[in-house]
Amino acid sequence: MADMTQTRIGTPTPRYDGRLKVTGGARYASDQPVVNPAFGWLLTASIAKGRIRSIDETAARAVPGVLDVFTYKNIGAIDPGKTFSQKGFMGTSIAPMQERILHDGQIVALVAADTLEAAREASRRLVVSYDEDSKPSAGFDSAGLKAGPVTPPSGEPEEDPKVGNFASAFARAPVKVDARYETPTQHHNPIELFTTTCAWSGEKLTVWEGSQNVSGVKHGLAKQLSIAPENIHCISPFIGGAFGSRGSLTQRTAIVALAARKLGRPLKLEVTRAQGFTVATYRAETRHHVQLGATRDGKLVALNHEGEEITSRPDDYKVGGTDATTRIYACPNVASKVTMLHADRNTPGFMRSPPETPYVFALECAMDELAYALKMDPIELRRVNDTMKEPIKGLPYTSRQLMPCFDAAAKAFGWSKRSAQPRSMREGDWLIGYGCASTIYPTQIAPATARVRLTAQGKATVQTGTHEIGNGAYTVAAIITADRLGISIDSIDVRIGDSELPPAPVAGGSNSTASVGNVVAKACEQIRAKLAAAAVKAKDSPLHGAKAQDLTLVAGMLRAPDGRSEPLDKAMAHTAHGALEEYAENLPHAAKPESLGLLYQGVSSIGGGFKLKDRVQAAFGASFVEVRVHARTCEIRTPRIVGAYAFGQAVNPKAAESQLMGGQIWGVSCALHEATEIDRRAARYTNTNLADYLVPVNADIPEYQALILPETDKLVNELGIKGVGELANVGMSAAVANAVFHATGVRVRELPIRLEKLLKG
Ligand code: MOS
Repeated sequence: MADMTQTRIGTPTPRYDGRLKVTGGARYASDQPVVNPAFGWLLTASIAKGRIRSIDETAARAVPGVLDVFTYKNIGAIDPGKTFSQKGFMGTSIAPMQERILHDGQIVALVAADTLEAAREASRRLVVSYDEDSKPSAGFDSAGLKAGPVTPPSGEPEEDPKVGNFASAFARAPVKVDARYETPTQHHNPIELFTTTCAWSGEKLTVWEGSQNVSGVKHGLAKQLSIAPENIHCISPFIGGAFGSRGSLTQRTAIVALAARKLGRPLKLEVTRAQGFTVATYRAETRHHVQLGATRDGKLVALNHEGEEITSRPDDYKVGGTDATTRIYACPNVASKVTMLHADRNTPGFMRSPPETPYVFALECAMDELAYALKMDPIELRRVNDTMKEPIKGLPYTSRQLMPCFDAAAKAFGWSKRSAQPRSMREGDWLIGYGCASTIYPTQIAPATARVRLTAQGKATVQTGTHEIGNGAYTVAAIITADRLGISIDSIDVRIGDSELPPAPVAGGSNSTASVGNVVAKACEQIRAKLAAAAVKAKDSPLHGAKAQDLTLVAGMLRAPDGRSEPLDKAMAHTAHGALEEYAENLPHAAKPESLGLLYQGVSSIGGGFKLKDRVQAAFGASFVEVRVHARTCEIRTPRIVGAYAFGQAVNPKAAESQLMGGQIWGVSCALHEATEIDRRAARYTNTNLADYLVPVNADIPEYQALILPETDKLVNELGIKGVGELANVGMSAAVANAVFHATGVRVRELPIRLEKLLKG
């Protein structure tokens, strides 16, 4: 008999896959063994704008072990596909391997060889000559930028949120802030490089690739290659970091697939760290103009948020927009506008809380500036403008604990020790600053499916095509199954990250736990209902005559509220086996003869965040940080980070805390460290490695605290899950900037805040 200690939702639980990860047993995409693979190496463009004049392959093909050189001349037909905003799966619509070059680092060639070394050597011997066009537009302030609105995906036009009359209200407001902010280019830099291995067996293609969307790979790649989706199998059980970078299909996958077919051999490609900067997506730089008008007691009467974002020539990926910043506070007169600027750059995409990170940075810095202008405590300013209704359409928040989060975090942080005056707190040579900011992330949910099977021995199998991107997806699926089926998570076999499993949505927008958790719970409920229905009808069951809907699965027993119960194996014996094998033929893993298996398809609600018709739903938090700035060198340290967060049901508080910690660290990273530098003459990224692309190390984050506030919200979905993965990142960069101002009296409005910006002040 299996261990029947029932794991419950909300119990801090170690990672289901932790042992595999720490022992090296977890196989990532390029760890998967394939027979007799060839190795690929990419060559990418060294110009940003122009055409390939010629490619001399002679020297490359002469390298011993080279199998083939693939370029636009021989790769074959690839449909570049549609991007997410066009309702497709691609991160960019820029076709790989074409004569025309639209950005530096565009894929020009793929060399295949018997060894990795030969492929790399040959790629370096390829001689590509280009005809360059006029000087490329690198980014903001470059000549040749083309401005444009966000083209809506086929369907409803996307409008910038607005209400009332901003201009006249702002003109009349007694207290005002009018400021401009800027965030830099950033790259995800997951530790696992972008890798793809493709192997064909007849018409069937297997793709091993770390992906946040295995179903997207299957369908997107099928479209690109003009083959049936059923012929594509994407396997991605573990992912070494993603943060949005593996959410959309990159153009490399189709190239590897076609090359493998031509070679008649499996092909492995590992994209270098530097190439990853242009072969995948990133967060483009943004600029913001924020105008706040308030009464003398701090009530917002006017709010305007205008954003500008860089994107590629053909695509219009919008990093976020003003959905959250126009709705977080009560304000009768709101205006907003987002403009895309098309440059000679690769197409940006989702990255770490994409809808909010840069926009909330701008708003929350402006709110801090307003607090100083009002001579008001920044927390009190948020309290005065707190609302349970978003101001644009007057829709209610399903739940909102912004101020409880501020109060809890302020207490844990010791905010009351702050002296309000900038540059008034000091310890020796170190200026001390306290800063805070609001945190918000929309609650998303998407259609999902899951198959759950329970054996008479109390073992369960859960199958769902979701993804483990560090979010604890295995553990979440196991905990919910255990909770609902009355067994221990040690008795549960979780299979995810495979396009042949029941499909689940992209692991993005922090939607996975809500989307997948709810369907897993529903599949379990169907099993419980079948067991209960059979037991109450069975004359030889102690539960005979009980009400089926009252029976629950607890600790290996089917139980009635009056105390009667029947062990699982006995209860299972009442069910009709014939009806229970309906999905057996589809079970690639662990089909058990004596078992009850059910597929649940669907979800309680679709969409979410700020896009629903009758309500808005979001998770909230409050971010606090202490900075210390050296009075002479201006070195900036962050000795303490404290945040409090309310995000509905925490399925696994242990994993949630770790997600929150990750988000807080991203926030500090965004505030003080990260920026992709661009050589503006060439529109080329220059710090394309982990030595020069700065991220925090342990010594940068000595102390963090993430408080989780209990929250029940049955309106968002049945399990009340809002999602937590990207929450703590939002607002943290503003909290740091606000703390730096408090420490030094210097307001830095352009991220990252490096010490030279303080020296200037
Ligand atoms: Mo997240 S940037 O939505 O993968």
